[in-house]
Amino acid sequence: MSSGYGVFLSEFWNNFHTPGAIAPSSRWLADALTKHVPSSKEAAPRRILEVGPGTGAVTAALVRRLAPQDSLTLVELNDRFVEHLRGRFAREPEFQAVHARAEIVHDRLENLPVNQPFDVIVSGLPLNNFSVDAVQQILATLERLLPVGGRLSFFEYIAVRAARGAVSLGAERRRITGITRALRATFARHDHGRDWIWPNLPPAWVHHLCKVAG
Ligand SMILES: C[S@@+](CC[C@H](N)C(=O)[O-])C[C@H]1O[C@@H](n2cnc3c(N)ncnc32)[C@H](O)[C@@H]1O
Repeated sequence: MSSGYGVFLSEFWNNFHTPGAIAPSSRWLADALTKHVPSSKEAAPRRILEVGPGTGAVTAALVRRLAPQDSLTLVELNDRFVEHLRGRFAREPEFQAVHARAEIVHDRLENLPVNQPFDVIVSGLPLNNFSVDAVQQILATLERLLPVGGRLSFFEYIAVRAARGAVSLGAERRRITGITRALRATFARHDHGRDWIWPNLPPAWVHHLCKVAG
């Protein structure tokens, strides 16, 4: 089974807003996004959430790192991507190996119940494409789903937000400024680090957040 480039591209053309990317994440971006899921057979059980798995480029890195005691939840709203992911779990050996410990939730992240937090969250959501309200709601949901010491990793394309802000006017400029404020406030409440991933289309920053007490 392919990594789903054709499905991804067709959803990009049909509905740019929610895929929000021209291509699935590269292997290097997937590795950076999943770096807080080290493969370890001895670690305590981990609850792992992937948000917006799309065709499963990052999921493929996650399933390889999953220990027998871990569980993986995928939340994806796009019908065709959900169907494609179900096919991968049914047919691809590395996905099949963890099928019993993986759950695909066909819904928006914002509708996930927040009473069962996740140790690690990896998000592929294209925040820079959304309204300020949507970004605030998504960030608030992610924070609620993360316990103290929990890790959140997500990406954005390098400098694209600043470039869009610099060339836009009016409502679009206010939207970009609002997203920047929301992200800065979230970074300030967490331990925050950033990786630069050049081999990706386009190159990306991966933000890594760790929730701190208080
Ligand atoms: C940029 S793509 C990332 C796909 C994949 N993770 C990758 O890196 O190749 C964003 C994905 O997020 C999904 N998505 C967008 N908004 C969402 C939401 N509110 N809840 C869950 N999934 C969402 C889209 O359908 C799409 O699959």
